[in-house]
Amino acid sequence: MGLLTKPIKSLDDLFVHTLQDVYYAEQQLTKALPKMIAKVSDPMLKKGFETHLAETKNQTKRLEQIFGLIGEPAKAVTCPAIDGIIDEANAILGDAKDQDVLDAAAAAAAQAAEHYEIARYGTLIAWARELGRDDTVQLFEQTLAEEKAADRKLTEVAEARLNRVAATKA
Ligand SMILES: [Fe+2]
Ligand SMILES: [Fe+2]
Repeated sequence: MGLLTKPIKSLDDLFVHTLQDVYYAEQQLTKALPKMIAKVSDPMLKKGFETHLAETKNQTKRLEQIFGLIGEPAKAVTCPAIDGIIDEANAILGDAKDQDVLDAAAAAAAQAAEHYEIARYGTLIAWARELGRDDTVQLFEQTLAEEKAADRKLTEVAEARLNRVAATKA
């Protein structure tokens, strides 16, 4: 059996599948973020993760709203890409022997997740427009704006402090 739960014959099928994929991704990130929050020490990074955890929970609800709008049950399908990003983050945080290096690694790992989400939501917006599902576009755009803001904030914290502090460690 392939990764896909049902045959994908149309752009509409692909849209629904990708919606189920991001629904899974948001759920997994909701589970992963508290572990990241517990492990990092930089107060701004911790605060940023806490804010994004709340946003992520809300994004999951927003996806449920979108499922409702298109008349599909809210269902998650395994997304091996986000599982891989989270597995890699856990592995690197487990291996980091220095707290400051761990903080820099955590910010970088989180940015990999944000970039995945940005790619997915960008595609979903394009497909929603193509399929005439303009009612969903604004909801996707709210989430995309949050993902981009989270990514920007991580860049700022990493470049302003985390990377520099980590660079002083031998
Ligand atoms: Fe998200
Ligand atoms: Fe995110």
